[in-house]
Amino acid sequence: MRKPLIAGNWKMHGSTASAIELADTLGSCRHLFEGADMVVFPPAVYIQHVAEQLVKNNIAVGGQTVSEHAKGAYTGEISAGMLKDLGCSYVLVGHSERRALYVETSQSVAEKFKAAQENKLTPILCVGESLLERQQDKTFAVINSQIAAVIDLVGLEAVCNGVVAYEPVWAIGTGQVASPEQAQEVHATIRKQLGEGGSTTRLLYGGSVKSSNAAALFSQPDIDGGLVGGASLEAEEFLKIAQLTL
Ligand code: PGA
Repeated sequence: MRKPLIAGNWKMHGSTASAIELADTLGSCRHLFEGADMVVFPPAVYIQHVAEQLVKNNIAVGGQTVSEHAKGAYTGEISAGMLKDLGCSYVLVGHSERRALYVETSQSVAEKFKAAQENKLTPILCVGESLLERQQDKTFAVINSQIAAVIDLVGLEAVCNGVVAYEPVWAIGTGQVASPEQAQEVHATIRKQLGEGGSTTRLLYGGSVKSSNAAALFSQPDIDGGLVGGASLEAEEFLKIAQLTL
């Protein structure tokens, strides 16, 4: 049995006050989704405040990205050890916005995955195809190669110990959600690629998840929860989505 996981990616939104308020509300409602794990990814500068509110309520906190390096002259970067030090237990690696806007390659994503695990952070490896790639029938090839790059570096077992989030790029922040069947088809393929060890790996769907579409997505056999962007900034909406994982 895989325990559902609901993840909230706050991206570059909020302030100290709004981050603490959101964390406070989620923490005080922990009893509503006891059967699921929750992790939120605040902007790095708010991680410590949010972790202080949430970790005691058994809600995890993570970084939105991480450096592949342990330390050194990398201006602006944050290491996995530093995230751990702030109270993080998860980190997103390879989010499509990082791949597209900050030119993260599959190789550097694999190195970030490795750095995370070496520091006892659970990486959530984000994969997904663009609209053009889907139209050209390249969805499975793209996702397969994004995952294979990480397997090549850290091995299959290490990838199975992480979390994989399937996020079709065309569904992120667009309001255009993959159908439950489309998502399930990709999730099943990912699980197959992970082999026997993948039977316990949590696979999340992300891309315009809302309380209105979450139930149908989460009822699919290979979808173990969601990675939620915009809708995770509204406590009430995010709590509804969390409950739908159960
Ligand atoms: P969205 O973002 O829910 O706003 O589409 C998802 C994500 O980028 O993780």
